[in-house]
Amino acid sequence: MPPERARTTGPWCVVYQGFDPAEVRLREALCTLGNGYFATRGAAPEASAGSVHYPGTYIAGCYDRLSSWVAGRSVANEDLVNAPNWLPLTFRAENGRWFAPEGFRLLEHRQELDLRHGLLRRWLRYQDEEGRVTAVDQQRLVSMDDPHLAAMLTTIRAENWSGSLELRSGLDARVRNRGVARYRGLADRHLIVDSAGADGDLLWLTVDTATSAVRIALACRNAVHAREATGRETHGEPGWIARHVTVEMSPGEAVTVEKVAGLHTSLDSPAEPPAAAARRSAASAPCFAELRARHGRAWERLWRRARLDVGGGPAQRTVNLHMFHVLQTVSPHTAGVDAGVPARGLHGEAYRGHVFWDELFVLPFLSLRFPEVVRALLRYRRRRLPAARRAAREAGHTGAMYPWQSGSDGREETQVLHLNPRSGRWLPDNSRLQRHVGLAIAYNIWQYHQASGDLEFLCEEGAETLLEIARFWADVATYDRSRGRYDIRGVMGPDEYHDAYPDADRPGLDNNAYTNVMAAWTLWRALDVLDLLPPGRRAVLRERLALTDEELARFDDVSRRLRVVFHRDGVISQFEGYEELAELDWEGYRNKYGDIRRLDRILEAEGDTPNRYKASKQADVLMLFYLLTADELRALFARLGYRFAPRAIPETVRYYLARTSHGSTLSAVVHAWVLARSDRPASWRFFLEALDGDLHDVQGGTTSEGIHLGAMAGTLDLAQRCYTGLELRDGVLRVDPALPPDLPGLAMELEYRGHSGLRLSADNRAVRLALPLSTRPPVRVAVDDGPVTVLAAGRSVRFGLGGEDGKG
Ligand code: BGC
Repeated sequence: MPPERARTTGPWCVVYQGFDPAEVRLREALCTLGNGYFATRGAAPEASAGSVHYPGTYIAGCYDRLSSWVAGRSVANEDLVNAPNWLPLTFRAENGRWFAPEGFRLLEHRQELDLRHGLLRRWLRYQDEEGRVTAVDQQRLVSMDDPHLAAMLTTIRAENWSGSLELRSGLDARVRNRGVARYRGLADRHLIVDSAGADGDLLWLTVDTATSAVRIALACRNAVHAREATGRETHGEPGWIARHVTVEMSPGEAVTVEKVAGLHTSLDSPAEPPAAAARRSAASAPCFAELRARHGRAWERLWRRARLDVGGGPAQRTVNLHMFHVLQTVSPHTAGVDAGVPARGLHGEAYRGHVFWDELFVLPFLSLRFPEVVRALLRYRRRRLPAARRAAREAGHTGAMYPWQSGSDGREETQVLHLNPRSGRWLPDNSRLQRHVGLAIAYNIWQYHQASGDLEFLCEEGAETLLEIARFWADVATYDRSRGRYDIRGVMGPDEYHDAYPDADRPGLDNNAYTNVMAAWTLWRALDVLDLLPPGRRAVLRERLALTDEELARFDDVSRRLRVVFHRDGVISQFEGYEELAELDWEGYRNKYGDIRRLDRILEAEGDTPNRYKASKQADVLMLFYLLTADELRALFARLGYRFAPRAIPETVRYYLARTSHGSTLSAVVHAWVLARSDRPASWRFFLEALDGDLHDVQGGTTSEGIHLGAMAGTLDLAQRCYTGLELRDGVLRVDPALPPDLPGLAMELEYRGHSGLRLSADNRAVRLALPLSTRPPVRVAVDDGPVTVLAAGRSVRFGLGGEDGKG
């Protein structure tokens, strides 16, 4: 069949026509269905892992650690476990082979991802070697209603033949973590089979993860609706259990199979053993139609809170797709789980399901939509505060040092070696020096508080986490008497191309501007947070943390005297010494290699290193303009004693834009953001590039290993906060729209300080805000720095370009 890439029809549907083995893994990732508790890739149910297909099911927070022998040493890696597969379902006509799309003449193959209802549908027709034509109509869901359930409905029609059809529906625990080619040399068997069994049409199996000892139990109920069933048998082997049912078919006749799966783990609740829970879930779940109806209603409720209208057109579809995958990874069900924000969703095995700083691109957006989910995700960090304190202590510091990559227990999970597939060499991985991850956590705590007004969380958990992060930075900063400044040495910024000075014998860079400025911001905020706490709670917390006046004075001093390095022309230097690096021959490399996003791999394969060049993988200094408004930056630089003219922003943007390869999908999001006011068409181009990132696999082969959650949420936030100019400051919701020319208008419903359904619509002429009726106190709103308007529940306000137009 002629292959075809993703087509989208309407804002709620992604359609794939045809079947192309080379595209299968990308589709599997993009057609993943999930509910925040677990997710299953959109793999064909008849497929097992091989060169074409890669079925995968991942449970939020379910990790396992294995040791491998690599480049002459033992390394331990923790993986998000590929859990037993609930999908297996295939069939064969009398004397024929089991169906698989690549083994037969496919007459038709169409896959459709229905975003509104959370359904994956597939239609196909095929002809076997005896000329028998069979049609299949399949739909599946991973329930947003009951997070432990998934279901699939399959109808198989004999178009032109009669005879028996054997159906096989099973559960497969023989799966391994083999989804990422670069990790193939590493240990991948995380499941130890415990038991499997059957009771009529109910099948189950249980496994334990190899070292983390999480019990995973999977069960399924199979119901076959056919005119005549002539045989039912159960077959098993270690790690596999299947129900075979034989039915009689005649031309035009159809058989329907309903498979309902229940998935539980020992991470859920101690109240019920997972095996019993899984069996109960599968056995007592309603029929597919009812499950689908409940699931559809749950999605409807989610979409009501997730509405983000970007004026229709192709951008709308991708916005919906991104929202869909964000909500499938972190949903209200995540609130009941101890899990963080996995950088690649629950959609594949890239980065081993680890949690990086990417939540910086996810949580501020979600804080204005699903604050309860954000609170739960911040708790993932808070629970790992003891581990972060330990890490700081082991590094000789006070406070909390969060790991660059985090998994189950909060220890540092960054691999020590990584493979450059271009050179075949295993290389030291120094990315753990990206200590700035803690600053992202502090920023998110602050943003969450600004959006929700949730003082209780701040008192109980947020403040402690933020203060401990601040404490770490106050301690790490060393005072240079000769310059009267504090330095932060030996770290990495977000740009992963630079991990050391050229020819240095140890990794790390000094005075990374992003780190230093955000450390100053965090220390300053730490003081504000203490002021926000009611005196009694503040005293208790200070006592518990033994936070003395001297230490707070140090917070203040460091926040005023951290060093920021500037180039001779006033551009903020990415780190001390950056200006002395060589310029890269960008054109030469582009001509030679075409795609130079992974310039680091190219240079290393050439025996060179990006450390020698003014070349960045992604936004680094520019992250400052992403996170902080020009006013905030001006205030921060003034506090630091630096003159920072507003024109320094466009100059700094221009400087780094010319020296960035965008080797991370996060980069396009940041550039779209920082260009939003100075170059709207360029901002829009980056926005579209970020929208394309996963749908068209812009980074070439990476999406099949998992979506890029930060970039997906980042595009949503571009529409939500950047183009509307939405800013939460001092208890005031400020808007200041700057829409790119191709974006006619924006409309959304936000959750703000206990108000659900705050309607915000904007174009370049006016902004309208409307609060639904409620008993909540009024909110304070303003346009840019204009006067504050008090907006009561049940009222609306329209601001024309020049100011407030009128209240309704
Ligand atoms: C980026 C990091 C990011 C990580 C996980 C890397 O390629 O450079 O900034 O945190 O991917 O998404």
